Amino acid sequence: MRKGMFLLIFLIFVMGLIVIVKDKSNKTLKAIPMDKSVSFNDYKFYKPEYQTRYDNYKLTNPNLLSKDIVLRVNIGLDHGFYTETEEVTKFDILMLVNKYHYVTNNFIPDNLVDISEYSKPGMKLNEECKNAFIKMAHDAEIEGYTLRAISTYRTLEYQENLYNNYMKKDGKEKADTYSARPGYSEHHTGLAIDIDNKKLSYTNFENTKEFNWMIDNAYKYGFILRYPKDSTITGYIYEPWHYRYVGLEVAKYIKEHNITFEEYYYEFLNK
Ligand code: DAL
Ligand code: ZN
Repeated sequence: MRKGMFLLIFLIFVMGLIVIVKDKSNKTLKAIPMDKSVSFNDYKFYKPEYQTRYDNYKLTNPNLLSKDIVLRVNIGLDHGFYTETEEVTKFDILMLVNKYHYVTNNFIPDNLVDISEYSKPGMKLNEECKNAFIKMAHDAEIEGYTLRAISTYRTLEYQENLYNNYMKKDGKEKADTYSARPGYSEHHTGLAIDIDNKKLSYTNFENTKEFNWMIDNAYKYGFILRYPKDSTITGYIYEPWHYRYVGLEVAKYIKEHNITFEEYYYEFLNK
């Protein structure tokens, strides 16, 4: 009997070891980048003038895929946020406003219209974005979910007040992790919406059934979760409440490939 018990424990131990080794070997397989041998200039978005930057970025990030090195350097991540910034003057559904791209007071989004439903009073959005949001909120409502726009288009002045208040409260370094500086907020485009469910504060949106619905359905209406968890690309902490309208095709691609808008932009749109 004792011998049998000993044998059983021994067998469980050996099986445990096999599982651990298998798990480790799977991880090892995953950790070896498939495209290590691919050179940077194999990508159509390779910029010859950035070769030294790619080489340097690879030195500090040896485990990144070549594709990610090229994309991240093109995004500007090797130079840090708010450096080498560029003005965006033209409205476009796929315009990029981030810590490297800003608009000025002269910029007004095209077709800025009031939202009268599913929103706090006095909110405005680009019309195409608004129509997509109303359709989404309406379909969600039919299924028993409540979506409300609580912050949409913002002027630079509004963002300046917001950012200054956050800075006073938390200091510049922390404020920069969750608030855009005036001119650099996606809310200036009329294509971004902060959403709550009318019951909980937007900061708790992640803990609502509406959030789960958004994760499954937002892309079907052209929206993406713009600042995903643990992203080292967007420059912002996780914002489960902030959605960006990019249109159906792009939203579907971003969702399916689990990438940020920056990565999409620099792979397909940046000329
Ligand atoms: N909270 C987002 C990043 C903004 O301030 O636009
Ligand atoms: Zn927002």
